[in-house]
Amino acid sequence: MSEIPATTTDSGAPVESDEHSLTAGPDGPLLLQDGYLIEQMAQFNRERIPERQPHAKGSGAFGRFEVTGDVSAFTRAALFQPGVRTQVLARFSTVAGERGSPDTWRDPRGFALKFYTSQGNYDMVGNDTPVFFVKDPMKFQHFIRSQKRRADNNLRDHDMQWDFWTLSPETAHQVTWLMGDRGIPRSWRHMNGYSSHTYLWINEQGARSWVKYHFKTDQGIECFTQDEADQMAAVDTDYHTRDLFEHIRDGQYPSWTLHVQVMPYEDAAGYRFNPFDLTKVWPHSDYPLIEVGRLTLDRNPTDHHAEIEQAAFQPNNFVPGIGPSPDRMLLARLFAYADAHRHRIGANYQQLPVNEPVVPVHSYSKDGAMAFRKSADPVYAPNSKGGPAADTTRFGSPPSWEVSGEITRAAYVDHPDDDDWGQAGTLVREVMDEDARTRLVDNVVGHLLNGVTEPVLQRAFDYWTRIDAGLGVRIRDGVQAKGAELDPKAAEQGNPARRSMQDKA
Ligand code: NDP
Ligand code: HEM
Repeated sequence: MSEIPATTTDSGAPVESDEHSLTAGPDGPLLLQDGYLIEQMAQFNRERIPERQPHAKGSGAFGRFEVTGDVSAFTRAALFQPGVRTQVLARFSTVAGERGSPDTWRDPRGFALKFYTSQGNYDMVGNDTPVFFVKDPMKFQHFIRSQKRRADNNLRDHDMQWDFWTLSPETAHQVTWLMGDRGIPRSWRHMNGYSSHTYLWINEQGARSWVKYHFKTDQGIECFTQDEADQMAAVDTDYHTRDLFEHIRDGQYPSWTLHVQVMPYEDAAGYRFNPFDLTKVWPHSDYPLIEVGRLTLDRNPTDHHAEIEQAAFQPNNFVPGIGPSPDRMLLARLFAYADAHRHRIGANYQQLPVNEPVVPVHSYSKDGAMAFRKSADPVYAPNSKGGPAADTTRFGSPPSWEVSGEITRAAYVDHPDDDDWGQAGTLVREVMDEDARTRLVDNVVGHLLNGVTEPVLQRAFDYWTRIDAGLGVRIRDGVQAKGAELDPKAAEQGNPARRSMQDKA
């Protein structure tokens, strides 16, 4: 008997041919009764699910998280207790590009983790940057649209990107970071991951702390210059995907060391920065890094669609000992992701193997399209028929903080050192060296020359001057020196480099 299995239909019956449809005579018409052909065509038409709205292009791998430190004083979460080892799925991505877009575009990278813990799934859906562009979820959708495509010509457009950024000063810190070296990592293995948000940790005694996660790459930070990234985008659109897959396939497992910054609960109100403002970091000198453990990726997916495309990360997947903070971006994300999954994958997306917890599920959710976890009676609670009952003695009180105030639509109340430009300026002046600053200037100049028009261009010069006066002058001079006359017509013609390539073509 042959070792190659015989092809079957989706219902398991052997098929007669992989090559020929059923016809009335060799030269005759197709027959509607060819159920196998119809199944092939119908299934093909349904192979794609909607891509993720942001973060569409990406890939990932499985691995483990091992606790090497002791943070039990801050959290009772089982996955962070000394010595515990937890299975993990990681997915890395770009934000703005579509599913086939180049891996090496300048963009933040997603750093999404699903921990299959003994207390249910815990998802840490972060980025490779410690901050974000906006601090109120009302602006998130507008921000993402400004990074995607225009309505008329379906092109990405630097003019609308800078229009949004320069009208939104809170973007300054993240834009400075993005335009610097770390805006294009050499590979996913060579970048850090951050929770960016502040979370709440609760220990066994109920004591609370605020916490930020930093996954530092053990491979070291390495970045592409703009030129290197442009060339790579031309020769290998999927460079980061390939790099991760091949290193894991060859046994060169990438790893990251998780550190946390921990802020005592009571410090938040009086801290010099609003600790929940997603556009700010906590300087390390205020809250030093504490080692927690190591994340290692050691297993590639075998079916990208089943294990990566249908993976559903959601920041509202918390476990006991971890909760949200008052960061309003985070609070909005607690709703947005599961809603996206219900649309993108379907109502029962959590029953798919990649999203299933490793612990038994005793929920009262039932039915819906594609349900295959069987429901059991009783189907309601409370009941006296032996159905699941919440363990209110152990997990009764939700993670919480005090709130007060009149219902309003308003910006956060400023803490003493809160302003939109300060930490961006620190990054430029105190973290970057002169070579890094020069590359930052070149990157911004190149970006602005690529289609940014007046009055947005003048606002961009002002934006950079507010971040750092010297930098503002260098950027204005750079734009002028590269020959863009500061009038709308010159700028509208777009990137001189691209024009010359088009002329050659
Ligand atoms: P530190 O000197 O203690 O930390 C500076 C941080 O900057 C390090 O984490 C370093 O990462 C990172 N870094 C180095 N080069 C770059 C770059 N080109 N782009 C982005 N980040 C870079 O200073 P502070 O904690 O006082 O923070 C100063 C500034 O550093 C902040 O305003 C912020 O812009 C930036 N930063 C701060 C972080 C934080 O959580 N405090 C995290 C990342 C950036 P590494 O150690 O991996 O080299
Ligand atoms: C993906 C919404 C902010 C990181 C997504 C998706 C949505 C979304 C709808 C697609 C989900 C899917 O289809 O699977 C939002 C909203 C935000 C926000 C409404 C703010 C209000 C952020 C921030 C970060 C982040 C601040 C990082 C700190 C990610 C990542 C993914 C993602 C990593 C991809 C997850 C994956 O790999 O599947 N976001 N987002 N997002 N977002 Fe956000």
